[in-house]
Amino acid sequence: MARLVIVSNRVPPPHTRGAQAGGLAVALKDALRRREAMWFGWSGELADPPGAPHSVTVGRHRYVTLDLTPDEERLYYTGYSNGTLWPMLHYRVGLLEFRREEEEAWRAVNERFARRLLPLLRPDDIIWVHDFHLIPLLRSLRDLGAQQRLGFFLHVPFPPPALFAALPRSEALLRDLGAADLIGMQTQGDAMHLSAALAEFGIETPVGAYPVGIDTAGFSRTAATALTKRETTRLIASLEGRSLILGVDRLDYSKGLPHRLRGYGALLRRFPEHRKRVTFLQTAPVSRGQVAQYRALRRELDELVGRINGEHAEFDWMPLRWLTRPLARSLLAGFLRHARVGLVTPLRDGMNLVAKEFVASQDPEDPGVLVLSRFAGAAAELSGALLVNPHDPEDITEALHQALTMPLAERRERWQGDWQALSNPPGGNWAQAFLERLMRN
Ligand code: ADP
Ligand code: F6P
Repeated sequence: MARLVIVSNRVPPPHTRGAQAGGLAVALKDALRRREAMWFGWSGELADPPGAPHSVTVGRHRYVTLDLTPDEERLYYTGYSNGTLWPMLHYRVGLLEFRREEEEAWRAVNERFARRLLPLLRPDDIIWVHDFHLIPLLRSLRDLGAQQRLGFFLHVPFPPPALFAALPRSEALLRDLGAADLIGMQTQGDAMHLSAALAEFGIETPVGAYPVGIDTAGFSRTAATALTKRETTRLIASLEGRSLILGVDRLDYSKGLPHRLRGYGALLRRFPEHRKRVTFLQTAPVSRGQVAQYRALRRELDELVGRINGEHAEFDWMPLRWLTRPLARSLLAGFLRHARVGLVTPLRDGMNLVAKEFVASQDPEDPGVLVLSRFAGAAAELSGALLVNPHDPEDITEALHQALTMPLAERRERWQGDWQALSNPPGGNWAQAFLERLMRN
């Protein structure tokens, strides 16, 4: 089997067992098992000058990473990737900031990465580039003469072409995408949007939907084991029999956290029977803290949490627990298993793996209920969830009430459908399906 070369902005450190927030790293670690691979990308470190690549080999996997200079991080990662492309791709044109200097630095970093990658490639490698940070790398590799099969996967949404056209110099970005042999997206809707945007410029690269999956059975086992861990036992004891509502996200404006918290506040006002009978634990590790909008969001959330707790808490009950640190993955699985409600309400999300992890973690005999945004990619697969419009806090309130009062038989029926959908996805394993099609093209 040919070697797989994965290229992504984040490269998880080999042997990662602890906390890990970010869907891409989690999804690809599962996909890599059992094959020879090289993973290439940013080390997460800064250095000036950046120096030679770092290389670590673990079994059949080699990890090669490059440092960025502080300026490159500011312009390529914080500026263009997170300040321009992220809001654009999540339909948030109002948050978009565009500076030519940042776009040019984004291209320059991609070119540097391509030049460093090229000498490490074998002629029969399959190259698979991931996410919006690295779009120009596709064209740079081709310009430098790389002839290998070249796939690209976008883990985030793609807006309708008329909206995407608001991005300055969007044509150049689409032409870079045209250098790939195959483009993978999370949903049919995203694939249609991107195909239409490419078609406007006569670019015919095939685009398909390969919804990212998780190792459902493996996560289920981890969750069952985690339930007996000391920390999970402590969490359960601290709840004193109250139902747990759990939210697990990066601290990101795409995740709809203020609306979610308001929806919970309204639950305690409108349905007072839940007062002192529920605890909402929201974990949201700080992410992209250099970007102004993320810092503003954190301030807004800190204030909102204080207000909700101040309004509703009793001397022996805190309705909302707010953590801005990540949870270790093994604990997260146990916490999810114990949750009566998984609350996943992004305003827009490519897939949202937390929704799938919640379903995978549940006890089949006594499953909890997933309250899910209809604008998460996962909503296309999880018809057993209570779907909400995440822009409407009252809709979240009503879904929470329905979830907390749902009879066991209905919970089981909804959960079983979702478990089946995740265990036997119609397209098979997403990564395998993508790579097979890439080889056929
Ligand atoms: P994104 O890619 O936008 O971060 P996803 O929901 O698709 O969102 O993926 C997030 C991944 O990171 C999931 O596997 C999830 O378990 C993990 N994660 C997210 N938030 C936390 C957290 N607070 N603590 C631990 N892991 C987290
Ligand atoms: O899934 C989208 C994504 O941007 C990934 O590419 C990334 O690893 C994850 O979110 C977390 O973001 P960041 O790498 O900026 O911390």
